[in-house]
Formats: sequence, C-alpha cells, structure tokens
Amino acid sequence: MTQDEQKQQAAIAALAYVEGGIIGVGTGSTVNHFIDALATIKGRFEGAVSSSEVSSARLKALGIPVHDLNSAGDLALYVDGADEANRQLHLVKGGGAALTREKIVAGASTRFVCIADESKLVDVLGKFPLPVEVIPMARSFVARQLVRLGGTPVWREGCVTDNGNLILDVMGLEILEPAKLEQQINNIPGVVTVGIFALRPADVLILGTPAGARTVTAEST
Ligand code: A5P
Repeated sequence: MTQDEQKQQAAIAALAYVEGGIIGVGTGSTVNHFIDALATIKGRFEGAVSSSEVSSARLKALGIPVHDLNSAGDLALYVDGADEANRQLHLVKGGGAALTREKIVAGASTRFVCIADESKLVDVLGKFPLPVEVIPMARSFVARQLVRLGGTPVWREGCVTDNGNLILDVMGLEILEPAKLEQQINNIPGVVTVGIFALRPADVLILGTPAGARTVTAEST
C-alpha cells in the first residue's frame, strides 16, 4: 500500500467522527482526501471552517459551504494532518505553511482528530524541520533567537503565508519538552506561531497502515 493510500485510509476512517454541524478542516494532502470523503456525506453536516485558502477552494469546488470562524463559534470537531506526531499526540505541523490558522481552528474545537500515514509517528519530535511563522520585519531577529535555542533556522524563500507572513524552518532540534518549547518560541517577539501543537495536542490520531487504519490515543507521560 502506498503512503498516499495510507493517508486516504486514515481520512476515510475520520468520517466516523462527523456528527453534524460545522466541521473544522485542516490543510494538506491527507486532509484533501478527507475533504473528498466529506463530499460523499454532504447531507450529514452543515459545512466547514477551513484552515487555509487552499482547503477553502477545494471545499467550495465540491459544494461544501465554507463558514467564517467568527460566526461559526466553537466547533465540535477538527480534522487535520501532521508532519510528525509522538505518542502523547503532540504534533509538528506547518509543512504546508498553514500552521497559524490550523492552531486557531484546533483551539476552537472540542475534539481534534489527527489523520496521517504511519510514517508520521515518531518517538521524539524534531526530525522534521520545525516551521515557525514570523512577521516579515522580524525574520532575522527571530532567526538569531532560534539559534540561541539550539536550532538552525532556514528561511523558506518564496513562501508567503495566507496571513502575509514568512516561514522559518528550524532544523537540528530534539524536542524533548514540546509544551515548554512551544511557549518559549511563541514568546519571541515577531513570532506569530510555532508549529508545535502540544499545549493543545490532538485527542485522537488515526494512522493509515498496510494492515488498516489504527486509532491511537495519548499515552500518559
Ligand atoms: C499544513 O501546514 C500542515 O500542518 C499539514 O497538516 C501537514 O503538513 C500534513 O500534510 P500532509 O497531510 O500533506 O502530510
């Protein structure tokens, strides 16, 4: 089974969590499968709040109404992918540069179901370069602060987020205390969001595997 088929399997399994109302929808290739799957059950929910312009366009193209989070209020369910997940369901996200809106919609949702192929499950976060969204004028300053924290930041040149900001990808971090590092990086002036999702981790992780979709819930630390 290919990695893409594993992603699709996880996405289809997430339909079981759809109980109506407005669904929070993330961004990425795994979520694209979820959006396609949602289009097959359109009568069972009202619409979606989206975490990116790309996902909004795909939702609309499939006839799924896209709502503004300000009018939708809190959501029962958010479904999104991840670049890495550990066994506490702390995540690294932002490979698609949508991390800030993803963190907002995750924060507004009661249940966060993360969908991924099994390669995303790791013992320690940090092999995947950690995305950090920064205000353009703060790029070099934030990069110097990230070096002090032990990382090697690389500017993702040519990438402008949906919010008009830039992305630094930080290499060389072994993220042993995800919640602490999330707070430290978020406290650097000029940082909009770091792609660690530990203060608000996923509640459920559905992994596509060659043996079928497997549901993982958080191990206590
Ligand atoms: C988008 O910014 C990311 O957080 C995605 O959720 C993440 O990159 C997962 O993407 P794939 O589903 O394409 O692996």
